Amino acid sequence: MGKQLEQEVAKRRTFGIISHPDAGKTTLTEKLLLYGGAINLAGAVKSKKIERHATSDWMAIEQERGISVTTSVMKFTYRDYEVNLLDTPGHQDFSEDTYRVLTAVDSAIMVIDSAKGVEAQTEKLMEVCRMRNTPLITFINKLDREGLDPLDILADIEDKLQIECSPMSWPIGMGKSFKGVYNLYKKQIHLFTAGQQSRDQGGITIESLDDPRLDELITSHDADVLREDIELLEGAANPFEYEQYLNAGQTPVFFGSAVNNFGVQELLNGFVEMAHPPGPRAATTRDVSPTEEAFSGFAFKIQANMNPAHRDRIAFFRICSGKFTRGMKVRHHRLGKEITLANATIFMAQDRANVEEAWPGDIIGLHNHGTIKIGDTFTEKEDLKFTGIPNFAPEHFRRVLLKNPLKMKQLQKGMQQLAEEGAIQVFRPIIGAQYIMGAVGVLQFEVTVARLKNEYGVEAIYEPIDYQAARWVHCEDKKLLAEFEKKNQAALATDAEGFLTYLAQNEWMLNFFMEKWPDVEFRKTRENV
Ligand code: G4P
Repeated sequence: MGKQLEQEVAKRRTFGIISHPDAGKTTLTEKLLLYGGAINLAGAVKSKKIERHATSDWMAIEQERGISVTTSVMKFTYRDYEVNLLDTPGHQDFSEDTYRVLTAVDSAIMVIDSAKGVEAQTEKLMEVCRMRNTPLITFINKLDREGLDPLDILADIEDKLQIECSPMSWPIGMGKSFKGVYNLYKKQIHLFTAGQQSRDQGGITIESLDDPRLDELITSHDADVLREDIELLEGAANPFEYEQYLNAGQTPVFFGSAVNNFGVQELLNGFVEMAHPPGPRAATTRDVSPTEEAFSGFAFKIQANMNPAHRDRIAFFRICSGKFTRGMKVRHHRLGKEITLANATIFMAQDRANVEEAWPGDIIGLHNHGTIKIGDTFTEKEDLKFTGIPNFAPEHFRRVLLKNPLKMKQLQKGMQQLAEEGAIQVFRPIIGAQYIMGAVGVLQFEVTVARLKNEYGVEAIYEPIDYQAARWVHCEDKKLLAEFEKKNQAALATDAEGFLTYLAQNEWMLNFFMEKWPDVEFRKTRENV
């Protein structure tokens, strides 16, 4: 199998898209899937409409559950590559899962709206990419609209995201006068046509920027502007360095318009050629190479079924090494049990199919009844625990109130289990008895209350509470930690696993605390290892 395993690994590209809502992620995804032949046009339009409708209301998402599950991972083939696109929910369904998906990818594409530059959600997602130095390719979208000056967009990215930009192409005009892009490395002009649905027309190669054909293609005026731009770029922009890209020090930048299917194929070609295949993955004891024969992987997302008649969950499981075959036996290390992976699903763009075999970089869906937790590692034999799948500090908080106080035990059980599953984070203040829920996206509160009712028979409501940030407290100096705890009881809580957490009313308070206690660590993530 050695050779086949190596070949299968080499052709896999597993990635996610990071962007702020409305930058064009959905549109770009559709176009990428078109190139992958994974959907047809009618299907694309339909799926988008449904998604739009569903994301506005969580119950509706559940009704369309089939769709939300299938769009979680989209697998398609492009040229000789097997591409796995992992969805990073971004609208109302923005949640901790959005961050966690990024722990399971090998690289990312960042979509920026040319009129907006870097926006808040992109900054947050970039922080997660930074944790593992995930390589990033940038697509600056909506060039068919009046936007910011391209150089200003690059400066904004460099400034806010602390990553060097290296343009691969350069736009010619913008908005109404958008003519296309010039590929700096292939020395090709790609002319823009609005609304093209088929593949990009190939570029027109020009010998040099002095080529008079350039003036014919895009007018002398635009040709002169392009010549000036490129001269400026040669002095100011960073030349592309592959190593720098791989260690996330630099991002290659493409320009285009997703809705017009312009620049998308250029991006996709650049992506499959530049992005690297699955690499080694860190476990507590050692790094695991994808080409090791023994199967291994971890769960990074759990999706529950709302239907009370079906308590099944789907665990999204990333394969890290070896080959998966249906019916294989693996060890579930946390439980110390051997289990059979009989019922795994592979995610296709519009469909789910029973999977017979899968390879490193692929995501399989494992049906279970609550036995799989986020971060769980399965291997063929060796006792391994993959790292880098943490809890992320919540950004929204609510106090949980019981309608019937006699249901306290059920509430406790439900909250504990939902926290273990990664649906919500739960805190118990050191002083006081009420539960506090914490989440990265507010939809999770609604989800939790509905699940408490359906699965645990507990009627709970929630109300606002005056917190805006949480940090896990860590300090090697036990004496100092005890003093910190004693002095700040009112601001401290424990999470579902009993870890000490500081809850801050606002950023200012958080910074104040961090300055006041410089030898105490305030961590944004926490991992069970
Ligand atoms: P998202 O997933 O990142 O949230 O963004 P999405 O693709 O849904 O795009 C947000 C809006 O931006 C959509 O318009 C989409 O058509 C538009 N858009 C995407 N790419 C481009 C582009 O290259 N140029 C222009 N001008 N617009 C683009 P909408 O009006 O919200 O939805 P729709 O009714 O047009 O689908």
